[in-house]
Amino acid sequence: RERQAYVSRDLQEVISGIDTVKSHAAEDREVHRVSGTLRNMVDARIRNTMLSAFSEYFRIGTMSLMLIAVIWFGGNEVLAGAMTVGDFVAFAVYIMTFAPTVNTFFAFPVVMQPALTSAARLRELFAMQGEPGALAGAGGIVPGTVQGRIEFSGVWFGYSEDAPVLRDARFVIRPGEAVAVVGRTGAGKTTLINLILRAFAPKKGTITLDWRDLSTLDPRWLRRQISIVSQDLFLFHTTIEENIRYSRPDATIEEVVEAAQKAQIHDDILRLPDGYRTVVGERGTRLSVGQRQRIAIARAFLKDAPILILDEPTSALDLQTEDLIGQTLRALVRDRTTILISHRPSLLELADRVLAIEDGQVRECRGSGAASCLPPGCPPSPDLFMGCGDAPLWHGA
Ligand SMILES: Nc1ncnc2c1ncn2[C@@H]1O[C@H](COP(=O)(O)OP(=O)(O)O)[C@@H](O)[C@H]1O
Ligand SMILES: [Mg+2]
Repeated sequence: RERQAYVSRDLQEVISGIDTVKSHAAEDREVHRVSGTLRNMVDARIRNTMLSAFSEYFRIGTMSLMLIAVIWFGGNEVLAGAMTVGDFVAFAVYIMTFAPTVNTFFAFPVVMQPALTSAARLRELFAMQGEPGALAGAGGIVPGTVQGRIEFSGVWFGYSEDAPVLRDARFVIRPGEAVAVVGRTGAGKTTLINLILRAFAPKKGTITLDWRDLSTLDPRWLRRQISIVSQDLFLFHTTIEENIRYSRPDATIEEVVEAAQKAQIHDDILRLPDGYRTVVGERGTRLSVGQRQRIAIARAFLKDAPILILDEPTSALDLQTEDLIGQTLRALVRDRTTILISHRPSLLELADRVLAIEDGQVRECRGSGAASCLPPGCPPSPDLFMGCGDAPLWHGA
């Protein structure tokens, strides 16, 4: 029963951390982890039953073997690349939908019920990947190098037909450049990022990376080229070390520590009861938002991807903590193509140029600094738009 709880905890974690899982192209790893826990649960049940009665053991054993066969066979297929994760889950669900019939036959509905629920939830989870046109199957071009030039040409996008979020967005981000994107809440800043990550596909127009249409690129490869630090980091229920390593599973402990040092979280980690081995996340030691944010930055340092996306990385922080984070971000931004979404003038200083989104269109703010995007008469403040009313953004531009 306790192991059953582990399964649902793992699944819950994968579901709430789905953005993290997907942005690290870690779906396979997660399916493996969850099926591992599932298998442990089944194993434990087999052992208990053996003690009570051999005939019962035989029945459950049959069921469990089926389940293990499914996981083993499917898992290997997925690893070998012969089957997609989606196919595997669908396959597992079919088997498990069929299984209760067998179960009734044995008049012993033990093992399959929780597995059924888990499988249904897994399927739900991976069905979320199926945004139209976004990730139509794996595969695609895997370029050898990345310059980091990103171009939107005539991009139209909306989550529904009648409410376009981007209307004919066109702009270029040059390799190695740091570009800030500003705009009021709901203007479409995060949407822009989602399109770059191919979480969604444009309705019209194209987005290119180094002159190649994103839709021709291998999505997993694409996500390996991009690090994201957003408002609040999702932590898995595991050690700090593993949480940092999530962005690069083959990293050594030395590399993890180095990334933590760069992100200025190393000293905080050493102060925790078990240092890097401290278990955090849902039931572990709680970290402050500022600490979690620096773990996210450590992940990005470790991943060392050529493209960096910062989506309001300090909006959950107070001004002092923001100052500290700002310093560590400066090092991260250097030498990378960076898209920085923020309203905080102190952070916007990291950007070479500022783009503003309004009414679905993206325009460059002329003049120097983020303030040049603002309507005239906006007082300087810790938040760009504080006290600006609803006046259009590029009046003075
Ligand atoms: N997954 C979604 N489904 C439907 N509508 C969405 C979704 N995400 C964002 N939106 C809508 O799209 C618009 C732009 O949102 P978003 O890009 O998150 O804005 P910003 O990041 O600039 O605050 C908003 O009107 C928002 O309600
Ligand atoms: Mg947003």
